[in-house]
Amino acid sequence: MQTVSDIQALREQISQWRQQGLKIGFVPTMGNLHAGHISLIAEAKKRADKVVASIFVNPMQFGVNEDIDSYPRTLADDQQKLMAEGTDLLFTPTPDIIYPKGLDKQTFVEVPQVSEGYCGESRPGHFRGVATIVCKLFNLVQPDLACFGLKDYQQVQVIQTMVEDLSMPVEIVPVETIREASGLALSSRNGYLTEQELEIAPVLNQNIRWLAEQIQTSTDFIGLAKRAADAINAQGLKTDYIHICHAKTLQPASEDDHELVILAAAHCGKARLIDNMQVFK
Ligand code: PAF
Repeated sequence: MQTVSDIQALREQISQWRQQGLKIGFVPTMGNLHAGHISLIAEAKKRADKVVASIFVNPMQFGVNEDIDSYPRTLADDQQKLMAEGTDLLFTPTPDIIYPKGLDKQTFVEVPQVSEGYCGESRPGHFRGVATIVCKLFNLVQPDLACFGLKDYQQVQVIQTMVEDLSMPVEIVPVETIREASGLALSSRNGYLTEQELEIAPVLNQNIRWLAEQIQTSTDFIGLAKRAADAINAQGLKTDYIHICHAKTLQPASEDDHELVILAAAHCGKARLIDNMQVFK
């Protein structure tokens, strides 16, 4: 596996593959790779001839009081994992390469509606940062397809909407969440959890599953979500939000909707956990 940091080296390799008519799969990441990321690489490998991964801790998607400085950076370890999974090329740009004029002079991409609410409300500017970096990486890598984990359900909807609205020729492949045996969704931020917090963190997923069962027979979505939030808080987490939404528009679900998603986030010590579950009624 080749690792490149500069745009020219990346473009040279990509254009060689393009001339050979090869199909390119892409997995953008922020590094500190776990089994969830590796499942994205495996999916891209199944669907494409060459797999490109990127590692870039994107400053544009972090708020002022968020964890960009402490975000885990484990490049050597990540390279081993990517190589073992058969990744062909790793792109590891620095912020200067991606945003040479600085963040405040950078053109950005704003995806309306699906970016609003939930994580978009708790983390203002987050999805603008995500859409901008993913757009830029798509322009650099020019993949035929790109894989994203469904743990970040709202992020997948934002990216899918951006691709549709801007007619980008990239297939977005959503990939199922990988979980611990406890149900806790794998996340780089789980590394912030103490042993004690690791024991209570699965309560988020447990209550999402409880809610998924309840909404099969009840349409009191607001009342049920409040009960789930209370149960999560009673275990020592602090619920940021838990909502039952339309699976595509992410608007609050109505009684007539059949394709739903439960979106939730909660603080557990230093970590902010997110999780979700799609429900068909
Ligand atoms: O999901 C992530 O790791 C990031 O949001 C992404 C898609 C790599 C953009 O920085």
